[in-house]
Amino acid sequence: MTTKDVVRTFVEYFEDRGHRRVTGSTLLPPPGDPVLFTSSGMHPLTPHLEGQPHPLGRRLVNVQRCLRTTDLEEDGDPTHLTVFEMLGTWSLGDYEGQQSLDWGYDLLTEGFGIDPRMLHATVFGGDGQVGPDTASLESWQERGVPVEFTVEDNWWSNGSTGPCGPDSEIFLWTGDTPPESTPTGDDRWVEVWNHVMMRHRRLDDGSLVPLPQRNIDTGLGLERLAALLQGQKSVYGCDLFEPWRRLVPGLWQVDEPSLRLVSDHLRSAVVVIGDGVRPSNTDRGYVLRRLVRRVLTVLWRDAPSRQLVDLPGELVQHTLDHFRQDVDPQDVRRVLLDEERRFRGLLERGRQVLARPRFHGPLDEEDFHYLHDTHGLPRDLVVALRQG
Ligand code: SER
Repeated sequence: MTTKDVVRTFVEYFEDRGHRRVTGSTLLPPPGDPVLFTSSGMHPLTPHLEGQPHPLGRRLVNVQRCLRTTDLEEDGDPTHLTVFEMLGTWSLGDYEGQQSLDWGYDLLTEGFGIDPRMLHATVFGGDGQVGPDTASLESWQERGVPVEFTVEDNWWSNGSTGPCGPDSEIFLWTGDTPPESTPTGDDRWVEVWNHVMMRHRRLDDGSLVPLPQRNIDTGLGLERLAALLQGQKSVYGCDLFEPWRRLVPGLWQVDEPSLRLVSDHLRSAVVVIGDGVRPSNTDRGYVLRRLVRRVLTVLWRDAPSRQLVDLPGELVQHTLDHFRQDVDPQDVRRVLLDEERRFRGLLERGRQVLARPRFHGPLDEEDFHYLHDTHGLPRDLVVALRQG
């Protein structure tokens, strides 16, 4: 099953059950959203989860590109991508969580042909404010799917305040042996689908009030499921990364984790640029800057002569096409090359400044401020230059 087949199967399954397809939005969340980038399918729908009627009705399905920066420090982790697509479904005050879990189980096992013995669920175990999610527990028990209770891992929120609720997550066994242990006990259980019972709103003082309606918000990581259905344990093994696996190793000989990181971060940078962001020292622009600089740091570790001008145009075009971004690939390349030039200049200056006797010993806060304010050298770069 290709990624396209996964999307079609998912969307048609829910359309057959009364869901209308919403057009996914860009990575830039609507005004007022507390996050820099859309990091899950629900962001563009926040006003409708809070009670504003949606023009397409109460049952929605969507494919939404998302960006998560939590994994930026990971070195090419095989199950996380910085930019990925989330398949999502919503009940805006319509059906309840058990219905959603029923369909989830049915689609995974019948629609995608996953052996039910390879599934494990987790369910919210309750805390001082909200009781355990016994309805979800019963749903899983009726199907014979093993369940683990957790507290923090099964509570979903979009920030410290706003819509939130208990969730039930579905994991797939990826080990070569028969399934064992539980999702929190063995990371060969990989999370694929989260069903959130989005019915609370957290206020500034930490208390919870009911949302005007009881919603369901589900999210399934497309590349992760596609890779598993294609017999790949790493998301980089799925069909979407075929051009990257084919072209990058011939260009830059790096180890496997670095290859994953370079592919992930460059692909993410292309999408972020395609959505109109430009490198800067704050907010979204800084995330983009870090993506590009991380790639360059990895590439230059072994060979400082490597340069982004060699990046095959096919990779930029393939990414823009996949994310349906109508942007000139030459513009994207120009942004990448400008940032590379700026970073090279900064490193050069940084090396010269740090060679001064004043900076040979340990640095204090005043030194870091001086290096930043006078020479434009951020703290993390200073630390990296002194280590390297
Ligand atoms: N909002 C939930 C998540 O991001 C489900 O879509 O996991």
